[in-house]
Amino acid sequence: MRVLSGIQPTGRFHLGNYFGAIRQYIALQNNEQAFYFIADLHALTTVRNPADLKQYTHDAALDLLALGLNPDQATLFRQSDVPEVTELTWLLMTVTQMSLLEKCHAYKDKLARGIAADAGLFTYPVLMAADILAYDSTLVPVGQDQIQHLEVTRDLALRFNHIYQQEVFVLPEAHVLAETAKVPGTDGEKMSKSYGNTIEIFEPEKKLRKKFMAIKTDSTPVEDPKNPETDSVFQLYRLFATPPEQAALAERYRAGGMGYGEAKQTLFEKAIEYFAAARERRAHFEAHPEDAEEVLKQGARKAREKARQVLERARSACGLSAKPAV
Ligand code: TRP
Repeated sequence: MRVLSGIQPTGRFHLGNYFGAIRQYIALQNNEQAFYFIADLHALTTVRNPADLKQYTHDAALDLLALGLNPDQATLFRQSDVPEVTELTWLLMTVTQMSLLEKCHAYKDKLARGIAADAGLFTYPVLMAADILAYDSTLVPVGQDQIQHLEVTRDLALRFNHIYQQEVFVLPEAHVLAETAKVPGTDGEKMSKSYGNTIEIFEPEKKLRKKFMAIKTDSTPVEDPKNPETDSVFQLYRLFATPPEQAALAERYRAGGMGYGEAKQTLFEKAIEYFAAARERRAHFEAHPEDAEEVLKQGARKAREKARQVLERARSACGLSAKPAV
């Protein structure tokens, strides 16, 4: 079994990214083989500032390592360090029907909003298929919004295998991530970069506290009982706390006499405690960026070795020489 997933470096990771995806990737890392990569080529379809792309990619690596991605168990690499994948994208593109891509939501949504799409966005799912197929991945943990891309991947793998009458590609399965109770942002809506309501995981403590303190709550007076089920502060607390801790805070909500400010302070302290070890690890990698670079390098070496084998299979299947002549 090979688990593989990619994560786009489009900004600092926030609590929604962590509870919605990263935590679950990390939990899968002790499978026989786990490959995780930072999808910097995909990010090029939205990040158009080179300094930002570099910074986000670097931060993504540090964040993942700090959050517990263990390079002794999982392989971590940058997508752009494996050029075999971009070559494979072309081979797949030649068997991709336009109508298949025209149905894909990222492209369709953009068109619907009257924004001109570029070919990178249009063919985004083919690059993603190459990401997956290049490593003979069998299990791909992804969010709900990526299920369609997994279907495209399977479709392309089947088509290629069928056209060339060979089992070149292994068919991957999606492992749809559990929608952990909604992660609310500071305005109570789902936490998302596009809503501007995010709380970044590794925000400096002071700023982090400020963000927690700014979470929108209702105007129930301090002395009145409050409903934890409808409050964003409590919904966030729930993600960090054990069931008995959750029950204790819920009790204080219902009893009245506790203001939202106090609940926010409790949440802040819990979050700090929860990420304390991760913060220490991140500080280490900040002080030793060469350690993170080394992890990425080793990861790329391993990933390329596998991708080369698959690419050779694909090249020979369609009548190219397995390897370039020089
Ligand atoms: N498209 C994915 C996302 O935005 C990121 C991604 C790129 C990916 N390539 C992948 C995920 C391959 C899983 C497998 O979330």
